[in-house]
Amino acid sequence: MSKIIKLHDKFFKHYIDAEQIDKAIDSLVSQVLDDLDDEEPVFIGILNGSFIFMADFIRKYPSHCQVNFVKLSSYEGTSSTGKVNQVIGLTQSLEGKTVVILEDVIDTGNTLAKIYEIFEGMNVKELKLATLFFKPDVFKKDLHIDYIGISIPDRFVVGYGLDYNELGRNLKDVYELKTDNMKNIVLFGQPGAGKGTQADLLKDRYNLIHLSTGDVFRRHIAENTDLGRIAKSFMNFGELVPDSVTIEMLKDEVNKHRTANGFIFDGFPRTISQAQALDAFLGEKGEIVNGLISLEVPEDILVSRIIERGKTSGRPDDQSEEKIRIRFNEYETKTSVLKGYYMERGKYFGINGVGSIDEITEAIIKVIDNI
Ligand code: IMP
Ligand code: MG
Repeated sequence: MSKIIKLHDKFFKHYIDAEQIDKAIDSLVSQVLDDLDDEEPVFIGILNGSFIFMADFIRKYPSHCQVNFVKLSSYEGTSSTGKVNQVIGLTQSLEGKTVVILEDVIDTGNTLAKIYEIFEGMNVKELKLATLFFKPDVFKKDLHIDYIGISIPDRFVVGYGLDYNELGRNLKDVYELKTDNMKNIVLFGQPGAGKGTQADLLKDRYNLIHLSTGDVFRRHIAENTDLGRIAKSFMNFGELVPDSVTIEMLKDEVNKHRTANGFIFDGFPRTISQAQALDAFLGEKGEIVNGLISLEVPEDILVSRIIERGKTSGRPDDQSEEKIRIRFNEYETKTSVLKGYYMERGKYFGINGVGSIDEITEAIIKVIDNI
């Protein structure tokens, strides 16, 4: 997850930085100069999008030149309407002049067709066209483009003069519309329900990051970090680590995986306030929790599973039935309310957690593939 911004209702992620744009403009300027070295070209910007490109371009252009603008419009929101209107026309005769059109972006080419239509009747000496961004995959026209700054795939971009419903023009870098949402699953269930086992299988299948708050805490404890010392004082007694500590740690872990396809949260959230914090935190990134999958297993089966695991896990909280009961009690009083939280949002999926590992995995996959 690189830098994300929100414009109106949509999220955009960082795509091209200002430095790369600057280099592309240097290259455009030198190509134009090579062709028109002894001319005095009129650069015509297509408003609104090209105003920043124009400003940067002409300040790099070292010879005499003139500047003018026309205003065309075809876009509404994030898609072209196909109909191009001239909103502000030319205020100068171009007869006998060498004209270079500067476009911010050429997408379908509808605007370009209109440009040729407007300028071809003007008896110019020569007509050239430069665009900063070009989308070859969507360009449908058989029209000539003389100079191309940066070719980009079919993505809706904002920044450096380009807008989404008039916002984003002032961004120095270019951002692309975010379409690839993460898959974020909360794996839920009592201690011993099989969350860790299932998470391991699911993370490979869906290429997700398995984030077990318990494992992260145990790592901190093993490394004797500040966080580890705080966590230890709670965990060894089978109690929940305070929300503020857990939430900060979780954010840290999520932010370590900036290109993740999504996360399996295992052991988080455990309280309503953690669930709210997770929603808010993912929301800032334009992401959501897709669903909570709960592995449902009767308590007597759980106790025997945990005692069994305790023989090899070395976990202090697995060692006695008393500590296990404290954890069940924590679950009952704090965690099980989460069921309601996700149910209200249509995101609760209960799975029978008794059966073979494969059977349970299959049941979970069915849920994940449908959310
Ligand atoms: P075309 O007519 O489809 O080639 O689109 C050209 C015009 O559409 C540009 O001048 C922009 O105003 C707008 N446009 C096309 N693609 C984008 C984009 O990715 N972001 C913002 N505006 C765009
Ligand atoms: Mg434009």
